[in-house]
Amino acid sequence: MTDKNTKKQLPGILRFLIKLFQIILYIPLQIIFIPFAIIGLIDGIYKEMGKSKKLGVSFSAIKALQYRWIMHYFNTRPDHLSVAFTKRFPCESHFGLWSTMGALIISQRLFGFTTKLGKLVEPGEETLDSTAGIRVLMFDKIMEKYVDEMDQIVLPGAGFDLIALRFTKGKKVKVFELDQVNMLNVKVETLKEAGIKHDWITYIPVDYANESWVDKLLEAGFDKTKKTLFLWQSVSLYLEADIVKEALKKMADLCVDGGIIAQDFYSKAYSLGEYSKIAKKNMSLIEKMGEPCKFGIDMSNDPKAAVELFLKECGLKLTEFNLFGEKLDIEPFYCIVEAEKL
Ligand SMILES: C[S@@+](CC[C@H](N)C(=O)[O-])C[C@H]1O[C@@H](n2cnc3c(N)ncnc32)[C@H](O)[C@@H]1O
Repeated sequence: MTDKNTKKQLPGILRFLIKLFQIILYIPLQIIFIPFAIIGLIDGIYKEMGKSKKLGVSFSAIKALQYRWIMHYFNTRPDHLSVAFTKRFPCESHFGLWSTMGALIISQRLFGFTTKLGKLVEPGEETLDSTAGIRVLMFDKIMEKYVDEMDQIVLPGAGFDLIALRFTKGKKVKVFELDQVNMLNVKVETLKEAGIKHDWITYIPVDYANESWVDKLLEAGFDKTKKTLFLWQSVSLYLEADIVKEALKKMADLCVDGGIIAQDFYSKAYSLGEYSKIAKKNMSLIEKMGEPCKFGIDMSNDPKAAVELFLKECGLKLTEFNLFGEKLDIEPFYCIVEAEKL
């Protein structure tokens, strides 16, 4: 029986008293953390926003790494690699994250005080602010499912995701990560600084908007005759529709039988910031940092049919479809899909 179910079976008054007791313990702890949090916040903002701009690093990729750090410390996904990476990463403050979230982390560990940060929602009940955790776990599952049967894995727009290091160490599979040159320079340098072995991964600098990533991939040793998994997580939202389509058509061309393209799509309404004020605020912050949302699929009628049609136009057939937000009052806003060559 899960901890959640056990809690649900307690009488309401007991649950209320437990929560109250937890809050009473949490408050003084949080007060102790305040001075550190102020310094940490300044350090965090400087590194995430100032230093990242200087180094030409994607702000959205920093936020994705940050979420993996959060998942580690709130016990929803142990990820020692991302923590070791963050400690040496010039665009994030490990101290800043600890000082702002430390009281919550300790409260959860010592006396079970959980907030949204420390919880994962049930499939189908994802909201805009609870999507990140489920997304990371779903891509983990996809990786686990295919890592032993593929000859090659390609991650276009890998950012600071360390999923390939996590799942392919010691495996026979060839791994290629693509991203913009500044991103990969910072990533490789940070991996070295953190003492994280990464020599079986080929890093390919490329700008999809101006260069042929296929040529670069082939030059780097990609074999068109081998079975490949493409893992395209959280990238299409930031690209023009024609670039997304072109990239998917090329992935389809590079796939032999058994090859899989796994990726996520946001809805058009989400990309236009129509769901909530908080989502819109986050998006405009990311936009200010140079990454406007550019692409989404119209999910207002039949999301699965819309995604199927879009993939078909790219030469792909939908094989797995996971929709987020369908049980809620809002329209579905996101999906994770798997596809194969038509
Ligand atoms: C939201 S991040 C996702 C990173 C990673 N997949 C993850 O889940 O953590 C988007 C990534 O797409 C990359 N990207 C965006 N536009 C690109 C372009 N034109 N060429 C190459 N990479 C690009 C960014 O550098 C960034 O790493």
